[in-house]
Order: sequence, then structure tokens, then C-alpha cells
Amino acid sequence: MRRLRRTDSLRALVRETRLHLDDVVMPLFACPGNRVVRPLEGLPAIAQRSVDELVRELDECATLGVSAVLLFGIPAEKDESGSGAYDEDGVVQQALRELRRRFPELLLLTDVCLCEYTSHGHCGVVVGDEVGNDETLELLARTAISHVEAGADAVCPSDMMDGRVGALRAALDDAGLEATPIVAYSAKYASAFYGPFREAADSTPSFGDRRGYQMDAANLREALRECELDVAEGADVLMVKPALPNLDVIRAVRERFDLPLAAYNVSGEYAMVKAAAARGWLDERQAALESLTAIKRAGADIIISYWTKELAGWL
Ligand code: PBG
Repeated sequence: MRRLRRTDSLRALVRETRLHLDDVVMPLFACPGNRVVRPLEGLPAIAQRSVDELVRELDECATLGVSAVLLFGIPAEKDESGSGAYDEDGVVQQALRELRRRFPELLLLTDVCLCEYTSHGHCGVVVGDEVGNDETLELLARTAISHVEAGADAVCPSDMMDGRVGALRAALDDAGLEATPIVAYSAKYASAFYGPFREAADSTPSFGDRRGYQMDAANLREALRECELDVAEGADVLMVKPALPNLDVIRAVRERFDLPLAAYNVSGEYAMVKAAAARGWLDERQAALESLTAIKRAGADIIISYWTKELAGWL
């Protein structure tokens, strides 16, 4: 076996899995204001940025070859019903208009969820002491429409309400937006690895947790059922999240479904490597490339990763 491992060029010749910038999506956090770059402690090298600063960041990233971004919004104010999510002049909508104008070629994906916008931090509206499912669907649909009208190329529902893909598809079609694809966070697990993101989005639930709507990490068959429902409801792309603890799920979804498959290499997966690298315990570049390659090898076509900008430099 060692014959083909002897040199860089031999290894490259027989390499089975390759990373390509076209397959990688960079998450971005848009916040209100001007000239705001607010670094995030748990997400080194990532920041909340006002729209003007997002433009500067993307000027650099586009030059490096980054082809797609996933936008999250941090509103000035939060309320019970997350109205900042579907406000025509919300932070994501403003960012979309500006980025659409400046970067006509860049793929603009948006995360569709209420948790960054609700005062209680849950992904939907609270009814009694639970997150109301159908009450939330309507608000998610409004959010998706407002994103597309502001310039989004695709919408990515991450809330884990039942029926959201069907609700979004119907609402988009009714609004004449039948050309917009839905990238569904189909198998999204309730995960400790979202920790740094919740600090970044200031979206830690003020009571309870998300286990009433996000999936139990112990379940694989349930993930396949989630995917099956999303396919039936009209999803264009499926997603598994987080990626590294769920490589088996990525593989199983790849084998069962023919839709393009995305995987989200989430904040905690990134933060762990950054933290260890900062202590000199491992080589960040190698650990990042190994992680991303493993996600592709497991079967993901598309990877959402906080390493996208660095990756553009490495590749
Ligand atoms: C919104 C959302 C979350 C993430 C993506 N979309 C947080 C959550 O569900 O708690 C996590 C992303 C990451 O950790 O990088 N619902």
C-alpha cells in the first residue's frame, strides 16, 4: 500500500475526496450600525458586522474565490414574536439589498429562524409554555418571502418546526417566488456544539432548551424520516447538522436520497480546533482540512463552515 503514498504527487493522483471552494458556504453575522466589527470570543476570526463592514469583508472574500454566504441577523431589538426576522427593513433584509447590488455573482443564502429575533431566544413563538408549531410557520414564511424579495438566492429554514418546508414552499409559490430553492436543515440535532453561535447571535433560550423541536442526538432513523418529510414537502437540498458528530447520518442520508446534501460544520466544531490550536496542541490548518475532508467523504456535497475564508487561502 505504501507505493502510492510515497510522494505528494502520487498521493494527489489517487486522492478520492477533494475540497473545492464552490462547495463551501461562509456564515456571516449582520448587525445594525455603521463601521461595526464586533469580534466574537467563542468564534475567533468571525465577527458581527454592520452592512458596510460586510461589504468590505466580502470584497476580500470574493477576491479569494468565496462563492456563497449564509446570512444571520442580529437585530437591534428583540421581541416576543421575533418581528425583526420578517421586518422589511430588518438587518438581514438591509444587508441583502446592499450585497445583492454589490456582488451580483455571489450566492446569498439566508438562515430562516426566529431565535436570533425573539426576546426568549426560542426558534418560534411561545404559546403557553411551549413553542407553537403552526403559529410559527406563518412567521417563518413571511421571513422567507422578505429575504427573497430583498435579494436572497435560497432560504434555509433552521427552526425545526413540523411542516415548515411545505409552508415555505407554498408561501414562496404564492408570492411568485417559485424559482427560489429551499435548503432545509432537515436533520438538525439539539447539540452542545452550537454554544459559540448562541453567544454570537445572543440567542440562548431564556427558559428551557430546544429539545422539544430539535432532534435527539441518539437517533438515526428519525433523521431519515425528517429528510423524507422534507423531500415530500418540496426541499431542494437536505442538510445534516452538526456535521462531525453525525458523519454516519450524512452517509445514511447520502445513500437514501438523491438530493444535494449539505452539512453544517458548526460553531463548536470550529471553536474546539481554534482553542486547541491557540494553545499549540494541534495544527489548525491540518485539523480543519481533515475535518472538512471527512465531511465530504461521508457524503456531503456542500459544507457550511467558519473556515471558508481561511480555506480560500489554503486551497
Ligand atoms: C438558528 C441556528 C442555530 C445555528 C444555525 N442556525 C442555532 C441553534 O439552533 O441553536 C447553529 C450554527 C452554529 O452553531 O454554528 N436556529
